[in-house]
Amino acid sequence: MLLGPLLLIPALFSICDALPLQKTAWKGAPSGSQQPGQSKERIDSLRPKYSCGPRFYRRELTDAERTTALKNLVQTYLVTLNDLGIETWLVHNTLLGWWWGKQILPWVLGISAQLSEPGVFFLAAYYNMSTFHFRGPGIPRERRYLLELSPHARDREQTDGSSAVDARWIDTSSGLFMDVYAVRYNLTHPGGEGMLSCKDGSKIKDTYLFPLRKTTFEGVPARIPYRYEELLMAEYGKGALGKLE
Ligand SMILES: *[C@@H]1O[C@H](CO)[C@@H](O)[C@H](O)[C@H]1NC(C)=O
Ligand SMILES: *[C@@H]1O[C@H](CO)[C@@H](O)[C@H](O)[C@H]1NC(C)=O
Repeated sequence: MLLGPLLLIPALFSICDALPLQKTAWKGAPSGSQQPGQSKERIDSLRPKYSCGPRFYRRELTDAERTTALKNLVQTYLVTLNDLGIETWLVHNTLLGWWWGKQILPWVLGISAQLSEPGVFFLAAYYNMSTFHFRGPGIPRERRYLLELSPHARDREQTDGSSAVDARWIDTSSGLFMDVYAVRYNLTHPGGEGMLSCKDGSKIKDTYLFPLRKTTFEGVPARIPYRYEELLMAEYGKGALGKLE
């Protein structure tokens, strides 16, 4: 596996930035947790503006605990949205992780997902601030996950100062969370018909996304974009997929 190009991929930082302890720990973190090739400024610019606050913070996680917590986070998210009948799919670093072994990449600090616009309306109408309880082989002690919709989740465009994140899936025992972005048809996009965008600036043509392919990720059912390989190449380059010319 080619680690060189992969290590430069910016990881979304997903520990609540309103937490003084976590923040301090992050800034002074020993080598290993900061991605090589990333300056602190770059990392700061990736911090989410929509913070889940200090509500759920308990203590700093070790690397192993964070990896397990991230795996549990994505598993519980995928299982829950699948149960609710909402289409959500892997993107960015989780899609790349899927490519390499259907798992979260080991150095990833944060993950995000995309879902359809009807999906975000449905969640906003019926499931905002719902808590989901999980226990299982990977989660021996019950954990609760909170689904929180941004106040701007229904807005089609990001307004000044509002968050680009539409929803958060929050592990209430660690404070780790996953950002979720709705993907909406964009009738004014210069790319023309069929363009979809998220408020974080990601864009995708519908024929690349749909029909979603069914697969598994971290051992649970998941969906990925139809033309995943081209999307990964466009985002990370051929080298990240082990293909060099
Ligand atoms: C979801 O609930 C939170 C907390 O009550 C609230 O701030 C937010 O505006 C709600 N979002 C939507 C889309 O209703
Ligand atoms: C459509 O795309 C343009 C250009 O990328 C962007 O400025 C605008 O916010 C997008 N609108 C929606 C509804 O996503």
